[in-house]
Amino acid sequence: MRSLRLYKARSSAIVVLAVVFVVSLTGWARNHPENATENLPVPEGSTPDMVALGARIYHGQEGGASCTGCHGANGTGSPAGPDLTKNKWLWSDGSFAGILKVITNGVPQPKQYRRPMPPMGGAQLSDAQVSALSAYVWGLSHPVSASSAAPAELHVPGEKIFPESITSTADGRVIIGSIGARTIYVLKPGGATAEPWIQPDDQPTLGIFGVFADEKAKTLWACFSSIHDVKQPPSTLKAFDLQTGALKEKYPLPTGGAFCNDIAVGADGTAYISDANNMEVDRLVPGSHQLEVWAGNGGFGLKGGVLDGISVLGNRLIVSTLQTNKLFAVPIGADGKAGAITEMKLDRAVHNPDGMRTFGKDSVLIVEGGGVGWLSRITINGDSGQVTPLKEGYPEGAVSVTVVGTVAYVLEGQLSALFGPPDPHRVEKPFHATAVEVGIP
Ligand code: HEC
Repeated sequence: MRSLRLYKARSSAIVVLAVVFVVSLTGWARNHPENATENLPVPEGSTPDMVALGARIYHGQEGGASCTGCHGANGTGSPAGPDLTKNKWLWSDGSFAGILKVITNGVPQPKQYRRPMPPMGGAQLSDAQVSALSAYVWGLSHPVSASSAAPAELHVPGEKIFPESITSTADGRVIIGSIGARTIYVLKPGGATAEPWIQPDDQPTLGIFGVFADEKAKTLWACFSSIHDVKQPPSTLKAFDLQTGALKEKYPLPTGGAFCNDIAVGADGTAYISDANNMEVDRLVPGSHQLEVWAGNGGFGLKGGVLDGISVLGNRLIVSTLQTNKLFAVPIGADGKAGAITEMKLDRAVHNPDGMRTFGKDSVLIVEGGGVGWLSRITINGDSGQVTPLKEGYPEGAVSVTVVGTVAYVLEGQLSALFGPPDPHRVEKPFHATAVEVGIP
């Protein structure tokens, strides 16, 4: 749940986080040179060798120029220079020749950054070196891969949508729940524009929070919870037919004042629900018509911690707390009962961890809403977690993630406009989710 209080706390933390971010990014870039070019396409008239040479120059290993300082080790930008991987350009048409010209001349008067880009990034490069660099930057912005059909951006048209959660099916459909429109949207496999799918119900105070596609049960699970801190009607989990969108069943949460936040499903088909307000996990055993409290009892911390992201990893349930920045593991016993709750030790702090999805056998993907916003991978080993930031910079508030093929879509909610203090100068941006290539776990 995201209250007014929460957003105040978030904004005061941003300054601190920004400092931490710059420091940690420097270390991160050093440890992850992204020089691999085998997967990059080659512009017409260039060769794969040129692209590889361009990558070395880009990373300062040849030619004395370093582009990484301003554009980041993998070209996704930094506080000193823009993202070069989106194929969106301010200074050229994005063609090989256009990029070449910008690199040659630099950018004396940036449109969105304070400091200029010197010609050739401040180095003396030969024509061949500048061509190689341009080929590399062109390749960076035109990724081909197993998921080349996956759109870079998914749009949810309309105003005041305030999407909170995203999920997807094995055949590549993407499903998005909206708090503001109280509608569930769907995108066809490979589609870039969401269409309304499941229409609002007759409970106008309940918005849609977590959504989760459960292939085995052919069910779309969805959390319906209070938009503005009212207790009635109670927060409810709903099951829809994953194919047709027809409502199958409703399950009110078992504890008073509950807030259904997100859903995960275990190997045996049990659905687990994070109740953000009561700091507990509920479960719905297959065949049962009633949710029951499964774990909590103070083990996830005090009320106000906001139990949020949830995913099943092997025979454990992993949950996060949005407000207290923690991750917990709960063993799922052979009898289905919850084991002892353990707080995970993370090698890097997470900031306002929100939506979380299982990624491979031993890791989860998680979005962090705090500071500049991150998509991170947490590799879990026993009670320890190694946090690897995959992408930073979600100014409109990362809320949820889903994986389609080799791409993770990160959804931004703009929820501060819904729950934060009113801002008369605010301009609503189009609602979207953006792709990050994450490969096969
Ligand atoms: C000192 C920081 C800095 C360095 C070093 C730097 N750039 Fe830039 N780059 C920028 C800024 C700032 C912009 C302009 C952004 C704007 O207009 O808001 C820019 C723009 C660009 C653009 C055009 C983007 C567009 O939207 O059209 C390309 C291409 C580019 N840089 C490539 C490079 C390459 C390749 C290198 C290494 C040789 C490099 N840059 C080095 C800061 C830098």
